Amino acid sequence: MTDLNADIESLLTENRSFLPPPEFVRQANVNDPLIYEQADANFEEYWSNWATQLDWFKKWNETLDWNPPFAKWFINGKLNVSYNCLDRHLQSGRRNKAALIWEGEPGDWKVYTFGDLHREVCRFANGLKSLGVKKGDRITMYMPMIPELTIAMLACARIGAPHSIVFGGFSSESLRDRINDCGSKILITADGGYRRGQIIPLKKNSDEALEATPSIEKSIVVKRIGEKAKVQMKPDRDIWWDDLVRDAPYTFEAEHMDSEDMLFVLYTSGTTGKPKGVVHTTGGYLTGVYATTKWVFDLKDDDVYWCTADIGWITGHSYIVYGPLANGATTVMYEGSPDFPDKDRFWDIIEKYRCTILYTAPTAIRACMRWGEEYPAKHDLSSLRLLGTVGEPINPEAWIWYHTNIGGSRCPIVDTWWQTETGSILITPLAGLTTTIPGSATKPFPGIRAEVWDANGNPVSPGNGGYLVLTRPWPSMIRTIYGDNERFKEQYWTKYPNTYFTGDGAKIDENGYIWVLGRVDDVINVAGHRISTMEVESALVDHSSVAEAASIGRSDSLKGQAVVSFVILKDAISSSKILEDELKAHVTKKIGAIARPDKIFFTADLPKTRSGKIMRRLLRDIAEGHVLGDTTTLADASAIELLKDQYEDAE
Ligand code: WTA
Repeated sequence: MTDLNADIESLLTENRSFLPPPEFVRQANVNDPLIYEQADANFEEYWSNWATQLDWFKKWNETLDWNPPFAKWFINGKLNVSYNCLDRHLQSGRRNKAALIWEGEPGDWKVYTFGDLHREVCRFANGLKSLGVKKGDRITMYMPMIPELTIAMLACARIGAPHSIVFGGFSSESLRDRINDCGSKILITADGGYRRGQIIPLKKNSDEALEATPSIEKSIVVKRIGEKAKVQMKPDRDIWWDDLVRDAPYTFEAEHMDSEDMLFVLYTSGTTGKPKGVVHTTGGYLTGVYATTKWVFDLKDDDVYWCTADIGWITGHSYIVYGPLANGATTVMYEGSPDFPDKDRFWDIIEKYRCTILYTAPTAIRACMRWGEEYPAKHDLSSLRLLGTVGEPINPEAWIWYHTNIGGSRCPIVDTWWQTETGSILITPLAGLTTTIPGSATKPFPGIRAEVWDANGNPVSPGNGGYLVLTRPWPSMIRTIYGDNERFKEQYWTKYPNTYFTGDGAKIDENGYIWVLGRVDDVINVAGHRISTMEVESALVDHSSVAEAASIGRSDSLKGQAVVSFVILKDAISSSKILEDELKAHVTKKIGAIARPDKIFFTADLPKTRSGKIMRRLLRDIAEGHVLGDTTTLADASAIELLKDQYEDAE
């Protein structure tokens, strides 16, 4: 468990605050402070008012059925997410408005109007149907950031076939496990994707994964790279996307989905070695992302909104695709990395498309900060009017840099806290209302109750730290873990009765502002990506030389946290630089490059309690060069001092 109080000390010193700019307040979608009380006093009515702004085939007859930990929202309502993201905008005059602006890494680009996107989605939905896909079938996607990914998501939603998107940086083994866990019938992939000028071999990884995925019947392949990808198509299994849609009709009637039908499953790391499939449903999820996109980003019809996340993560699902498109907004999607071909790529894209809203991660801001302010200074960023961050706590220095160099000291910043499980943003400033303080996500979104509790379930007093909990259901909340209600209960609902435990530590200040400190469980956050220490450990012990392993997240000035692993080798195997590199490569192969340890330290011993539990907290103290915390529960307290000395000598 993290040392909460040490982290709090460093935050208490922040005293800069930023009032909402008056010119922003005047035009803001929400600028009436009473909204918080109103939403809180009657939260079911408040959420049903939001839901009313969507198009329903049949209205719900009850707003909420709360049988903790199981929630149902908008009972018996029927709607379709794809219809809400496309068709209804065609009827309201947005047919020729840009829906998706896509920028490829090599510099190619494409703009889809709502009319175009609707046609492409219908064509692909027809293609899927011709392969026998029907409502309820699961479909996995392992794709680069190309328009076909968005099209495929909306086509699945149109048919009612839940999607499961696997981030393209994951390994073939990770892909295989995720396909098997939800029993997908179809895999959609591409011949490759671009990343820093290199080709990511998505098709080759898919082929390896599909050697052991009995549920998969067909694999659809987008031609993104062409000849250079040198892919092998397997007859009877693989179909080119273009062949599938060539003669497909461009209309497809959207399926009438129940509000509680599954929209998608998205795998995320928990406290065990096995990723869990977070299940989101239709009506509640769409209401949550629609409402938060509209208010948190102050979205207007003429905005050009850009979220830099990858759609393989929840941020991309909710705030590149579903939230913006449900609002009829223009959403930008970029395939590549921020430093290719040069370190001004983000700023170049903003200037090129005149983006008005930018939503990115603190780790990206810190990288840009390191590269220097001359890169943004080369570009005209005057179109920007609002900035956002997500994924990890933002350090005040990065916040101020973002505010000054990107926001021209005029754009409000929204630091948004949420999780894969929450579906949509839950703690955030509202730019027309909230005075911001760098480093604090400020207050719960209207209608949300987030509190900081001590171990006994009592709210902590101002200035103190504790556990961040959510004490009331919300529409876009996780419904269950795919196929595992028990794990769902155990993971989130057993620490406190009828209360959702987030896994985060937080502090609350005198103004009631929440300061999220980071995970207090065995989940680490590397560059805004969630990794479980146990996943890394399982990958390491899978190697024939390793007897035992423990992994921790060490603070890192760029990535937030970096993985450090302590490894005990099997007898008769000696450590070496070659072995260290081999183990790092092994983790990359098993999970993906995001989980690759920055450092592997070979040791003869690991600190354990008398019951044999590894005390990762002490390993973190060692890796971060802190004084060792409480060691009284260790089985052998002398070994830890030795380990600390050895580690420091090796640094
Ligand atoms: C962390 C990403 C501090 C937190 C949307 C959470 C944050 C985990 C913030 C979820 C923030 C996310 N400030 N910490 N603004 N946003 N986190 O599921 O630890 O990939 O539990 O969802 O990221 O990560 P996930």
